[in-house]
Amino acid sequence: MKNTTNTAAGTQAAGATGAQTAGAPNETQPATGVPAAGNPTPGSQNQVGATASSQNGVAPQNGPGATASPVTYRLEHVVKEFRLKRRVVRPLRDVNVTVRPGEFVTIQGVTGGGKSTLLQLLGALERPTSGVLEFGGVNLASAPDSQLQAIRAREIGFVFQNFNLIPTLTAAENVDMGLEPLGLPAEERRARVSQVLAELGLGDRADHRPNELSGGQQQRVAIARAIVKHPRVLLADEPTGNLDERMRDDILAILQHLNAAGLTLVVVTHDSAVAHRAGRPLMLVNGMLHSRE
Ligand SMILES: Nc1ncnc2c1ncn2[C@@H]1O[C@H](COP(=O)(O)OP(=O)(O)O)[C@@H](O)[C@H]1O
Ligand SMILES: [Mg+2]
Repeated sequence: MKNTTNTAAGTQAAGATGAQTAGAPNETQPATGVPAAGNPTPGSQNQVGATASSQNGVAPQNGPGATASPVTYRLEHVVKEFRLKRRVVRPLRDVNVTVRPGEFVTIQGVTGGGKSTLLQLLGALERPTSGVLEFGGVNLASAPDSQLQAIRAREIGFVFQNFNLIPTLTAAENVDMGLEPLGLPAEERRARVSQVLAELGLGDRADHRPNELSGGQQQRVAIARAIVKHPRVLLADEPTGNLDERMRDDILAILQHLNAAGLTLVVVTHDSAVAHRAGRPLMLVNGMLHSRE
């Protein structure tokens, strides 16, 4: 199993290997040079009626980009390619999308189709090969590494299919890891951790280690760890992929609850049941993002 980014707590996130090779020659596909103009931002009809991110949007952070941008993400002609020995893999060919505060977006698509790659770009874990990828007004394609790191630590919550909890730590300690980079006083950390555990129905599980929790509970801890910093957006890569149906519904209900409270969500899933409950289901097809159906 490939597992490139298991630093879910946002500390020292992996490999933002400044892949800024824009305009590099394409060895395999010449890509026809046509940036699929007929694929404008899909689905503006699908504005989720949630009360923007006042509750979860942390007060403006450092940096000019953290000013109140009306959009969470703006992607224009985003390309991501990987150069292997003898060929180039280009999972993202031309991605164009705008995500607004309070939306619940899902991304479906075939295995190997580039969903995780896209989420890594949205999470500032990787940079696009070319194109514009703005998050809260900051172009993640060109921002300095230090700014990407700060954005990952403070503004982006990340949840993975396999939870990525630290087995030797309790639920509360795992959640506290999400606050590590913020430098908050111990008292506030404790308060935030208990609050989020209670909010996710884990108040009586704070002292349990992951192996003493069900899969659904472990995923709830991972979500708690991702949101305890009050991120601007929660990104989740197949968050119900390892869960049975009942636990999947449990996690879905939590995601919907968080969205109703104003949190912006982007969730990768191959589960139609998840996509059906999202405000805005999108499909990644041939490296491009479309409205579903
Ligand atoms: N770091 C990488 N190096 C080389 N190829 C990669 C890398 N990450 C992903 N890929 C390739 O990009 C394609 C898309 O992968 P991925 O985004 O994981 O798809 P999905 O999540 O939709 O299953 C696959 O062909 C995969 O092998
Ligand atoms: Mg994937």
